[in-house]
Amino acid sequence: MTIQQIYDLALEMGIDSDPRGKTGVDKFLKRIKKEYEDLSKEKKKYFDSESLTNPYGDTRIFVGDPKIEVKKVLAGIDADAAEVILADRLNQKGLGIDLVIGHHPVGIGLVGLHEVMDLQVDSFANEGVPINVMHTLMMQRQDDVKRKIHPTNHNQIVDTARLLEIPLMNLHTAWDNLGDEFMKKYIAKKTYHTVGDVLDHMMDLPEFQEAARGKNEPAIVSGTPNTRVGKVSVMFTGGTNPSKEIYIELAKAGVGTLIDMHIPEEALKELKKRHINVITAGHMASDSIGANLFLDELESRGIEVIPCSGLIRVNRKVQKK
Ligand SMILES: [Fe+2]
Repeated sequence: MTIQQIYDLALEMGIDSDPRGKTGVDKFLKRIKKEYEDLSKEKKKYFDSESLTNPYGDTRIFVGDPKIEVKKVLAGIDADAAEVILADRLNQKGLGIDLVIGHHPVGIGLVGLHEVMDLQVDSFANEGVPINVMHTLMMQRQDDVKRKIHPTNHNQIVDTARLLEIPLMNLHTAWDNLGDEFMKKYIAKKTYHTVGDVLDHMMDLPEFQEAARGKNEPAIVSGTPNTRVGKVSVMFTGGTNPSKEIYIELAKAGVGTLIDMHIPEEALKELKKRHINVITAGHMASDSIGANLFLDELESRGIEVIPCSGLIRVNRKVQKK
């Protein structure tokens, strides 16, 4: 596969598992196109044309000719300058890494992170939060995230990869959508009496088992193992955590137990006040689930995957055989 084919596959799989559905993604892209068309000629010069076809502002190729044939990838949850230098060092040892894939966004992918948060409007609406309320609250949160990221040195890693000529890409929401869809389906397979029952079911997944061996297992951070469970909601995608006001709306919508990768302290306080159970699944293990679903596809197409940077690699296709 070429770099471009890997990237296209990630986008295809990300769209297929997007909580907005294919029609929702198309509507989003139409909106971006309209925004572009409404720009002045001067402003059009600076527009990121990739966003006309790619609905994920945090998923990009940064370095490397898209036509490069890839046989081996170094894949991690965070691909920083350290991982780019690691790839270079491993190549000095003759490993032959053709591409570094990171999950958490960097470069233009990091400054575009707020754009993907749009999908949370539909995610939370699917759980019963009125869509108009979600839309207004999410616009405020997107603005906060954009301002917070604005001053960061987002291109540091991209510059490192460019100077070392190490091909680099970022697959963030494309992978998180896969993890989100997988977990929603996995959790929906059973009915539960208590929060502990949900946790027990989660612990059947190998990523969480491996995390537990490293004292980083999923944890009940609101409620107890014996607390009655109510309606279970999984939130594994959408860029980053929403604001505490959005979590409050989720509580109002009748969610009894929330499964999140991680949760901000101020949001947790609000959920505790409202007696909503919360399971934090663990960041690295949860991100690994989405990553693995994609990397399984690369391996089945003959690409060797070297995991790094916190990725708990599990190949479900090989396990099934
Ligand atoms: Fe993450």
